[in-house]
Amino acid sequence: MQFEKIAQALKKKEGEQVRIRGWIHRKRSSGKIIFAVVRDSSGLMQIIVEKNKVDEEEFKAAKKALIESSLEVEGIIHEDERAPGGRELHVTSIRIVGFAEDFPITENQSVEFLLDNRHLWLRSQRLTNIMKLKAQTLRAIRAWFDANDFYEVTPSVITMNAAEGGATVFSFDYFGQEAYLSQTAQMYLEAFMPSLERVWSLTPSFRAEKSRTRKHLIEYSHLEAEEAWLHNEENMQVQEELVSHVCQHVAHECSEQLEALGRNPDDLRMIEPPFKRITYRKALELLQQKGFDLAWGDDFGTPHERALMEEEEKPVFITKFPAESKAFYMKLSPDDPRTVECSDMLAPEGYGEIIGGSEREEDINSMIERLKKDGANVKNYEWYFDLRRYGSVPHSGFGLGIERLVCWLGKIDHIRDATPFPRLLRRAYP
Ligand code: 4AD
Ligand code: MG
Repeated sequence: MQFEKIAQALKKKEGEQVRIRGWIHRKRSSGKIIFAVVRDSSGLMQIIVEKNKVDEEEFKAAKKALIESSLEVEGIIHEDERAPGGRELHVTSIRIVGFAEDFPITENQSVEFLLDNRHLWLRSQRLTNIMKLKAQTLRAIRAWFDANDFYEVTPSVITMNAAEGGATVFSFDYFGQEAYLSQTAQMYLEAFMPSLERVWSLTPSFRAEKSRTRKHLIEYSHLEAEEAWLHNEENMQVQEELVSHVCQHVAHECSEQLEALGRNPDDLRMIEPPFKRITYRKALELLQQKGFDLAWGDDFGTPHERALMEEEEKPVFITKFPAESKAFYMKLSPDDPRTVECSDMLAPEGYGEIIGGSEREEDINSMIERLKKDGANVKNYEWYFDLRRYGSVPHSGFGLGIERLVCWLGKIDHIRDATPFPRLLRRAYP
């Protein structure tokens, strides 16, 4: 008889025989009867083992097995409203596959303890729900790019360019030369413009953020796209289409996980294009009216993003930031050289920036000037300037922080929970 996933077994009728395998999630026993909840990747199922219904040795072993032991069981389905999923399994045969030692994680553990034991905490219901949500988010993204004729490409994460500024770059010795862990794949994606025209990649990006926040990881999953012949307005259209598609997909595929995490899937079903666009100038005025002491050129922090999004239910684009507050590669606005053709997509409910995007500068001198202001080694950017020398075209792209997106989708209050093994300030273990 074949093993079935618990989700399948929970669809069976009274009296049907099934075989499942998994891990003991909870357990209590009194004398001649054992009640346990078995977990597999698809769900939870209550099982009942009675002494006179199974082999004596099997019962002894089952009695001895602690939570998180792995097992295989066979039994008869019994419909019972009180059981999770409305079914329980009356066991006729049970085999313990791996006896677990005393599981170190009990209730009410500190955050630090759970991070130290991340490899074990990964099997918690909360992290399981989040990892399923993240996998479906990635599935939706890939499907969207496929349907829209983008090519997936594989840029390197070892680089000599600190495209997002020297302050947060990780450097290391690359056989005697200074190299960096990539902050963005963008410059490499731009090299594909004359061949593939529309590309995307998913790579880890690294930011040596020296501050502790709920939104910053040291290593995160960076989804980036780049498209030739595109101005920033159309770039924003790509982003709002993609994000809306992800929202619809996860509302449909992950309603159970979303609800368990405290997110009403209807909040995501209403996310559809177009998203509102506000210029930085306008946003600054709004913030000043709300009493914030901000001047032209100041970047927006969490309280500002929160205030701007107070009455918004859908994401909003903030466009045309001051040139000095953004990266060297952003195109200076043709109608106002003080600003750049960029947009940050802010998520509702205080989740803040989930996408940064822009049209790319084509003027080499303007880029050199801005790189020098940043103290960058301009020589390392020669290859990038070549892209402008040999058949440049208008092009735009963006980068989306997968964990930031997942936080918003799943109402997750700290970004460390949106990734299995968070790299945080002073934490790279396990
Ligand atoms: O706004 P950023 O820095 O933009 C870039 O890197 C561009 N070169 C992307 C591009 O145009 N191809 O980063 C893009 C996104 C942010 O909007 C945010 O969602 C996420 O990456 N992000 C982080 N996520 C988690 N932890 C961090 N430390 C992050 N820094 C940026
Ligand atoms: Mg940004």
